[in-house]
Amino acid sequence: MTPAPAVPLAPVVPHAPAAAVVAPPATVPEPRAEPVAPAAEAKADPKPLATKRSKGPDWWLMLKAFLTKGRGIASFAPSSRFMARKIIDGIDWASAKTIIELGAGTGPITAELVKKARPETKVIVIELDPNLCGRLQERFRDVPNVEVIQGDASKFGDLLAERGIPNVDHVLSGLPLPSFPQALRAAILATAARTIAPGGTFRQLTVMPLVYYKMYRQYFEDVRFRFVPFNLPPGGVYVCRGFRG
Ligand SMILES: C[S@@+](CC[C@H](N)C(=O)[O-])C[C@H]1O[C@@H](n2cnc3c(N)ncnc32)[C@H](O)[C@@H]1O
Repeated sequence: MTPAPAVPLAPVVPHAPAAAVVAPPATVPEPRAEPVAPAAEAKADPKPLATKRSKGPDWWLMLKAFLTKGRGIASFAPSSRFMARKIIDGIDWASAKTIIELGAGTGPITAELVKKARPETKVIVIELDPNLCGRLQERFRDVPNVEVIQGDASKFGDLLAERGIPNVDHVLSGLPLPSFPQALRAAILATAARTIAPGGTFRQLTVMPLVYYKMYRQYFEDVRFRFVPFNLPPGGVYVCRGFRG
């Protein structure tokens, strides 16, 4: 017999009460034609949702994704605002034209980016998981300089090229890079190195402080680690410059 899962994978929704039964009228009135709004007057939605609506609070969406995908998500909770602020700390907002975020989850870092970025700074956000991406699209659909893409961040070079964007100022990554196959990780970092403009950075969050410092040093000349104690679990950010190639 298969044991029942310890944690329910979806919230249990109680059945709605049955609709009250109403007796039909003795005579059925003629249906009246309803005025139809002309199509041209219908309000255009500037960013229609490409994915389904995601229900529940952010922590629940992340926990659910973690329980079903494990290492592909890497963290059971969204980053704290301390982590989100630390990863964007030191960005020159006056000069930044494009910032790309890879593996945005429910958007705690995106939210801080939106607070700081000028309206002229393009913020491109990529998330693979459709439920998490649905949350991002709902949350940032009214922010004109934010584009949320549901897709594989390892293809972000192509996604930039399709949009005619030759380079970016900073790459912020929440991707679980250490659990990616070595060749894929190297390819993502090589794309970052190719697309980051001079003076830019690759920034990677982690919930295993300093454990992968040596790994990032294999790829970058200059790696600084910023510890973030107020996160669940405590973590930090690698800020990397000078790709070794
Ligand atoms: C550790 S979570 C970080 C989420 C968010 N940035 C935060 O700080 O709370 C990693 C995220 O990367 C996403 N991810 C994993 N592989 C991906 C891929 N190949 N392309 C895009 N997103 C990916 C996961 O779905 C997850 O949302």
